[in-house]
Amino acid sequence: MEMSNLSSTHQFDVIIVGSGGAGLSLALSLPHHFNIAVLAKSTLTDASTYYAQGGVAAVLDETDSIQQHIDDTMIAGAHLCELDAVKQTVEGGKPSVDFLLNNGVQFTLDEQSQLHLTREGGHSQRRIIHAADATGRAISTTLVQRAQEKDNITIFENFIAIDLITSQKLGLDEAHNRALGLYALDEKTEQVHTFLAPFTALACGGAMKAYLYTSNPDIATGDGIAMAYRAGCRVANMEFNQFHPTCLYHPQARSFLITEAMRGEGAYLRLPDGERFMLRFDERAELAPRDIVARAIDYEIKRLGIRHVWLDITHKPEAFVKEHFPTLYARLLELGIDITKEMIPVVPAAHYTCGGVVVDEHSQTDIHGLYAIGETSYTGLHGANRMASNSLLECFVYGMSAATHIQSHYVENYSSPQVPEWDDSQVMNPDEDVVILQNWDELRQTMWNYVGIVRTTKRLQRALHRIEMLKREITEYYEDYQVSKNLIELRNLVLVSEMIVRCAMERKESRGLHFTLDYPELAPELRKTVLTPPNFQVETPLVNAE
Ligand code: FAD
Ligand code: SIN
Repeated sequence: MEMSNLSSTHQFDVIIVGSGGAGLSLALSLPHHFNIAVLAKSTLTDASTYYAQGGVAAVLDETDSIQQHIDDTMIAGAHLCELDAVKQTVEGGKPSVDFLLNNGVQFTLDEQSQLHLTREGGHSQRRIIHAADATGRAISTTLVQRAQEKDNITIFENFIAIDLITSQKLGLDEAHNRALGLYALDEKTEQVHTFLAPFTALACGGAMKAYLYTSNPDIATGDGIAMAYRAGCRVANMEFNQFHPTCLYHPQARSFLITEAMRGEGAYLRLPDGERFMLRFDERAELAPRDIVARAIDYEIKRLGIRHVWLDITHKPEAFVKEHFPTLYARLLELGIDITKEMIPVVPAAHYTCGGVVVDEHSQTDIHGLYAIGETSYTGLHGANRMASNSLLECFVYGMSAATHIQSHYVENYSSPQVPEWDDSQVMNPDEDVVILQNWDELRQTMWNYVGIVRTTKRLQRALHRIEMLKREITEYYEDYQVSKNLIELRNLVLVSEMIVRCAMERKESRGLHFTLDYPELAPELRKTVLTPPNFQVETPLVNAE
């Protein structure tokens, strides 16, 4: 149902921030009597979910097993994954596929009309269902259509959640910090609205816009993680940022991913002299987990002083390439590269936020009534490195799990406490938007140069120093001027960047995606890095972080 006729305070049963796989799987799994708001800060499909290429991992083949998927995930995650979360997710594979099929998502079928399974790095089996090379588009457009058809779901596009409203912030005398809703900016009217509900879910995606070069869409500014932390939730493992090994290196197409499924179907990585260099780095060669492949590419690029390496699928039959990768074939042809005959120039780029808001098996955060799902959350699944195609799966498993939990805690006739409206009477119209632009560029450049694939303590210290200065300037600007989308995003991005650096400084080892020249070895103990906000209310009973 599209939004109509707005007043500025809205009461719902459930507020969901985000219209990607995580947000919509929650929305579509709740029964019809729930009155649901779905907010998206841009259009509904403008989300990482839409851009996913490879697919969704699930154990479907009889030669595969739950245990093998668990083992692969643990190995890819450098054994830092939490076993309960891995089991819950992997066992949720089949129900997630059923959820998608029941909602009408069309996946690629094989000659026997069974779901075609492709392969990606780290997977010992073919277990990735996909819609050719545009899986996210198939999932996103279908789930968005289903949500639009439901009259219990009200959609608020171009609404940007600013901050959560909690019992603690209102000074209510409650044993637990409780989520009461949030404030959100309507970008079109520039008015701030109040949304109230007993249940709020943050499904805001990741934060990889913190880096200068990324595969992520513009929405990925870590808003959910930042909002939850400011409200009093713990955040974990932010040092583990995944760099996808193969993003296109081309002046006219930034942020364009070349799916790992291409390597899964036999593509090679080559140096300018044609050498298949991955054979020197890992016996799994091109199908080693992503951290290993991205690091090897980074090493070779720096060693040889080259701008990119090559991805080569020219040895496969033309018809095979066109059938498996129709979207990539067409897009690259537009850019003058015929992938059936020519190699593709590729570089690593920031791709996935493995850390996030600490949640339990029901997606509950440290704040009562507040859930975090999908890339915003830390469930324990990914450990030190996410395995390909496990993240969409996590969105569906935890989206459905949150739905079950919310249903069983539904209170009829809930009434929200009195909440003040957003007050911007004391602030000015922004006069210097260049401040936002300048800080935005500086932040992303700092993160790319100092907090990238290979780290050192000195670089992290330099990054922290600059980020603290930027944060002070941005906070001052935020306090003095009216909010805008750019300002909200920058405020979140600088906080999340600080979290990434602080977590990276705490980890005195190299594990998975966190590689530092100062501590190149694995530490003997396995531990996650937990950031506890100053307003964390200790009596809250939870979860996953000790
Ligand atoms: P998203 O899909 O990113 O959705 C976030 C939503 O939150 C958006 O609707 C956005 O508007 C909204 N939002 C954010 N902040 C606010 C705010 N302040 N106010 C209001 N709304 C807000 N994973 C796989 O498993 N398989 C793949 O094949 C795969 N391929 C990928 C390819 C690319 C190019 C990328 C970028 C990622 C890929 N991933 C893949 C990762 C996966 O797509 C994401 O992790 C997953 O889609 C995240 O889903 P989500 O619902 O958590 O967030
Ligand atoms: C890809 O298609 O390579 C992306 C898969 C993922 O990020 O899981």
